[in-house]
Amino acid sequence: MSKMSFTYLSEPDVLEAGLSLSETVELCTESLRQHGLKQIENPPKSGIHPQPDAFLHSMPAWVMEKNVCGIKWVSGFSSNVQKKLPSIVGMIILNSTETGFPTAVLDGTYITAIRTAGVSGVSIKYLARKDSEVLGIVGTGVQGKYNTLCITHYLPSIKKIRYYDAWAPSLESFKAQLQPLLPNVTFEPVATIEEAVRGADVFAGCTGKVTESIFYADWVKPGALVLPVHGGGWEPDVMTKFDKVVVDDWAQISVGMSQYTAHCKAPYAELGEIVCEKKAGRENDQERIINFNYGLAIHDMICGARVVEKAKQKGLGVELELMDLAKPIPLPQV
Ligand SMILES: NC(=O)c1ccc[n+]([C@@H]2O[C@H](COP(=O)([O-])OP(=O)(O)OC[C@H]3O[C@@H](n4cnc5c(N)ncnc54)[C@H](O)[C@@H]3O)[C@@H](O)[C@H]2O)c1
Repeated sequence: MSKMSFTYLSEPDVLEAGLSLSETVELCTESLRQHGLKQIENPPKSGIHPQPDAFLHSMPAWVMEKNVCGIKWVSGFSSNVQKKLPSIVGMIILNSTETGFPTAVLDGTYITAIRTAGVSGVSIKYLARKDSEVLGIVGTGVQGKYNTLCITHYLPSIKKIRYYDAWAPSLESFKAQLQPLLPNVTFEPVATIEEAVRGADVFAGCTGKVTESIFYADWVKPGALVLPVHGGGWEPDVMTKFDKVVVDDWAQISVGMSQYTAHCKAPYAELGEIVCEKKAGRENDQERIINFNYGLAIHDMICGARVVEKAKQKGLGVELELMDLAKPIPLPQV
């Protein structure tokens, strides 16, 4: 090996690689199992905030058993949506666990979108009532749509979707894109956030950044599962108001959602503990469960590695040279 090179996959390459939602749910189930077994390294994300509604997060992780490590660098600019631009855009770098050399650089936008919905799919499998009929969605952008597809796939009992968004174009494209894929489901736009939450058996909050309280635990019916995909917007003491609080990673949530964790000593469980059967998931039809999944880089790494594998099988992407290993690093000019 005299040249160090890495695979580069653009967004079209990643899309053509063809990672599906159900494959992603399997991958995220596995990354959460490894999290529950503590066979991962996934420090809390750190970030910078160049705009009041924005973040850039650095997300490294290592999934030991899968021999996968690397980092995602992801931006979230909520106001992009009104400019008809994606609000969440990411890049993933995968590295060799033996030499640390970069092995792949790929678009992380689609992977972020699909793995976030994929984690909701895992939550549905373990925490939702199997006879859930009404899905509530607030925020009908990328996550609103991806979560709807995933939740209805794992809960074919869903008969009605009650949905709300503050921005009309997003609301219109939600029904236009999803109704043809879900012909047996009734799409009911509602006029307020409260109407989308009340009566829902599963509720997913998928808004852009929200700092004030716009969701209230009192609105949530017995037996419901709440998935705050965007974690903000609940009352500060929300974690004291549900029968079970489940999180993806308590250490990360304690840093990123301290507005809630200041009121709660510990969650009922981390989702990975439920996946690897250290703790029970839903135990009866009356429990109100809230599951904060703040987003773990282990999912990006495991899904990113699968995308690279699939892309190589299809001959997608390009190999780019980074350095000539035969030549020692020269001394710099002084
Ligand atoms: N937990 C995770 O792992 C994870 C991963 C990706 C994205 N997210 C979060 O999910 C959220 C949605 O991401 P996206 O890619 O779908 O963004 P998006 O911009 O495509 O969609 C957000 C939608 O929310 C709407 N909205 C914003 N404020 C609202 C309000 N107060 N009431 C009603 N609707 C409102 C917008 O009009 C838009 O349609 C973001 O906050 C993002 O940070 C979380």
